[in-house]
Amino acid sequence: MDGIEIVATGVGIPSKVMTNDDFAKIVDTSDEWIYSRSGIRSRHFCDEGETNATMSIAAAKEAFERSGVSADEIGCVVLATVTPTYASPSTACLIQKELSLSEDIPVLDINAACSGFLYGLEVARGLLADRDRKYGIVIGVEHLSKVLNMEDRSTCVLFGDGAGAAVIKSSPDAEYTGYQGAKGGLEIFIEGVGSPVSHVHMDGKAVFRFAVSAIPTVLNHIFEKSGYTMVDVDHCICHQANTRIIDHVIKKYHAPEEKFYKNMDHFGNTSAASIPIAMNEMIEKGMIKPGQRLLLVGFGGGLTMAGAMLKYAGK
Ligand code: UT7
Repeated sequence: MDGIEIVATGVGIPSKVMTNDDFAKIVDTSDEWIYSRSGIRSRHFCDEGETNATMSIAAAKEAFERSGVSADEIGCVVLATVTPTYASPSTACLIQKELSLSEDIPVLDINAACSGFLYGLEVARGLLADRDRKYGIVIGVEHLSKVLNMEDRSTCVLFGDGAGAAVIKSSPDAEYTGYQGAKGGLEIFIEGVGSPVSHVHMDGKAVFRFAVSAIPTVLNHIFEKSGYTMVDVDHCICHQANTRIIDHVIKKYHAPEEKFYKNMDHFGNTSAASIPIAMNEMIEKGMIKPGQRLLLVGFGGGLTMAGAMLKYAGK
């Protein structure tokens, strides 16, 4: 099957910023506790009128406009989220309408929690393989503030809202190695449609233990499958849940620290959105250059884990 590459990225970031000090006024916590345990200083929360749909549309539009691709070249929209505005229609359908994309393309939402964007890349790759339209839009988005229990200090301080999108291109020349897996389990969950309350519940320690084993599992699969090693990777972008998870992996595997980007200090954990938001930030800062090889690693709810090694083609 053809590989895929990143052509352009975009984001939809809500306007309201919640600092750790803001949380200290709501629950019994402190900037010192939150920062030392997670590396988080602030996060964005949706304000009135901002939703999963508005953030997704903003991110997809930005990536689409930056790509220079025309609407009839887009062959699919795959959107990963656990916090959709509507159970139906999918947010992907709203993007299709907003961007005036073709009617004969698949547009769908998927749920693989914090690994969602990387699952989305793989799904989009499959959908584009047999199609004349060779470009796809993949989005990771979360409106987690609407499912946070603001009385539970062990979860509410960790998460944020946001969306990140990428326009990808499917091509026989594009390098791509993917991995997707899951262990199952309810260590982190949110009640579903029809439930009187819908909150994030998390056994933080169990998820932490899973996370520090999931990253090496993903890396091993990707390196074995691709034949590449960390030396061949320009940037490794892990899901931005906790700086201590990434630091643990760097230390245990003597990995080069400068290859691991971290931005949870100003976004918190945005689940499916964290990897595309970080990738976009790095591209905007000029850290990721066209032709560079990226290794993306996700882990989270459902005890899903995923990786994608691919290149940033640029425009
Ligand atoms: O995206 C999905 C993936 N999610 C993750 O990867 C999250 C993984 N887990 C973690 O990142 C960490 O487990 C946490 C940051 C969630 C927690 O860190 P921890 O070192 O495991 O803390 P803890 O849960 O063991 O809590 C230690 C203490 C407890 O008090 P006691 O029982 O020792 O007296 C908590 O009640 O800290 C207390 N605590 C807090 N104190 C102040 C919990 N939350 C807070 C808080 N402020 N916000």
